[in-house]
Amino acid sequence: EMPLLEQCYNLLDFEAVARRVMKKTAWGYYSSAADDEITLRENHSAFHRIWFRPRVLIDVEKVDFSTTMLGTPCSIPFYVTATALGKLGHAEGEVVLTRSSAKHNVIQMIPTLASCAFDEIVGAAGPGQVQWLQLYVNKDRAITQRIVQHAEKRGCKGLFITVDAPQLGRREKDMRMKFTDEGSNVQSGQATDTSQGAARAISSFIDPGLSWDDIPWFQSITKMPIVLKGVQRVEDVVKAIEAGVQGVVLSNHGGRQLEFSRSAVEVLAETMPVLRQLGLENKIEIYVDGGIRRATDILKALCLGARGVGIGRPFLYAMSAYGQDGVDRAMQLLKDEMEMGMRLVGARNVSELNPTLVDARSLFNH
Ligand code: FNR
Repeated sequence: EMPLLEQCYNLLDFEAVARRVMKKTAWGYYSSAADDEITLRENHSAFHRIWFRPRVLIDVEKVDFSTTMLGTPCSIPFYVTATALGKLGHAEGEVVLTRSSAKHNVIQMIPTLASCAFDEIVGAAGPGQVQWLQLYVNKDRAITQRIVQHAEKRGCKGLFITVDAPQLGRREKDMRMKFTDEGSNVQSGQATDTSQGAARAISSFIDPGLSWDDIPWFQSITKMPIVLKGVQRVEDVVKAIEAGVQGVVLSNHGGRQLEFSRSAVEVLAETMPVLRQLGLENKIEIYVDGGIRRATDILKALCLGARGVGIGRPFLYAMSAYGQDGVDRAMQLLKDEMEMGMRLVGARNVSELNPTLVDARSLFNH
């Protein structure tokens, strides 16, 4: 009844299988987004408003889409972004994603709210494998400091501070599933109210008082590069540069936070021309996430100025449906699509991806 893994030909195919085979609570938590899920849909449709202007007669016999992110090399310009509660979808949880990332030389961002213990995820990494830490900032800064410094000591190469979640968005599909605490490794140390769905149950420790004034403190407790995850306007990108952080992730949290947030790729197209005008385009690394399902999406983001992209749900769905084989195949499919996309667009390496290769006019006028 369940399709063979070989019958999944792209990342969206995994979602269709996962919807059928996953437990309802897990499907509800992974797939849900805020309110009416308008931003969730926009994360896909924004990419449909960007078209290519390929170059022809470029010798693309050999194409190389490897790159570096925060100074570390990787095989392809995407990373596995942080998604909480991996054990809802698969008994082994996040370490499944770790193993596939190792196999494909892809960077993994470890969530604060992982189901597996942090040390287990770091311990599952292969030699030289690069991992980052996603941080939800606790009201108790001593706890936060311990988490950050432990991650640095264990070799994490980047600190991604989530800045778009002073309160968790309202995800009704998740709330309706009556979350039961299964698969969670609650780090808040507080009793959890599970009547509001999985997300709210585990997130009450997050500090809504976090502000720009806290950034110097983070810089004082760690040498890891700092990236602000969840920026949504060029003004805040400029502030991030002024604050001296190494990167931002333009993101609306997969549509799970502020409903009617714009897509990250639209924010990117707003941001880069302003940064270029101010001479700031090389002062910070810009990442985007949300709705990336195809190598053409990755190519569009890189043409518009992103250093790399994060991918969330597709790997959760592949893992939930097929375990590590599923995640391995999802990553391989993206690599195959990427090789073809680079050739057809006429780019031999990522430094040749530039804004002239896309027509993004209807991104804003539609
Ligand atoms: C997330 N995301 C997220 N972000 C974060 O900073 N901390 C977290 O704990 C989580 N948890 C989480 C759980 C699940 C189930 C999802 C789907 C997402 C947001 C995530 O990092 C990323 O911004 C989006 O998932 C990207 O969108 P796509 O690729 O899922 O469309």
